[in-house]
Amino acid sequence: MTTDTTVLDGLDFPTSGLAVGDDVADLLFREARTAAAFTPDEVSDEQIAAVYDLVRWGPTALNTIPLRLLVVRTPEARQRLAAHMNEGNRDRVLAAPVSLVLAADTGFHTHIPTLAPHMAALADALEGQPEQRESMARTNALIQAGYLIVGLRAAGLAAGPMGGMDADGIDREFFADNGWKSLLVVNVGHVEGAGTHHPRAERLAYTQASLTV
Ligand SMILES: Cc1cc2nc3c(=O)[nH]c(=O)nc-3n(C[C@H](O)[C@H](O)[C@H](O)COP(=O)(O)O)c2cc1C
Repeated sequence: MTTDTTVLDGLDFPTSGLAVGDDVADLLFREARTAAAFTPDEVSDEQIAAVYDLVRWGPTALNTIPLRLLVVRTPEARQRLAAHMNEGNRDRVLAAPVSLVLAADTGFHTHIPTLAPHMAALADALEGQPEQRESMARTNALIQAGYLIVGLRAAGLAAGPMGGMDADGIDREFFADNGWKSLLVVNVGHVEGAGTHHPRAERLAYTQASLTV
């Protein structure tokens, strides 16, 4: 195996290789920013449901779909969530129109007979493998979290994902009875101005982030 990347260094990959127009590429990725400031405009349950209905079609291992959403909307619920966020993230939860706790369902395997009928027997096998289940749930729910962020953007909404939190504390606060494991909190709303004071940071180029063998 070679790890020599010099052949790729001179290559230029034109954006015209995309199957979507520049407007879509800008909306989903190039112009979209991680938002910390939102307008007071409401984000409805219907909007969030519509985004979920779109991104649930993204692929997961064995079609297990372990991502779960806790929609945090009421002032009382926001306070409960904010208490478990890191200092710098606390006010953002209190100020956002709505926050989503993205969680991995360690009991996802009970849906396998419906979601992967050709593998139905796996549901019973995984029942006795809690560590394997949690690992699968976390990996695939995180993949779905990426889909969700892009799906929110596709709906004209802005997302502010935050991992700085006491995940165990959130699990005790909200998920004591259902085995969900919190992964990320995402503030959602309509972006105010640029949505952030941070200048756009550089991204690694394809040649830095890939190898070809
Ligand atoms: C998994 C994940 C965890 C993050 N955690 C935090 C966080 O705890 N606090 C915060 O202010 N931003 C957090 N961010 C935001 C990132 O710093 C931001 O998305 C990144 O710098 C890119 O910013 P841009 O989209 O504006 O270019 C997180 C983002 C992701 C995807």
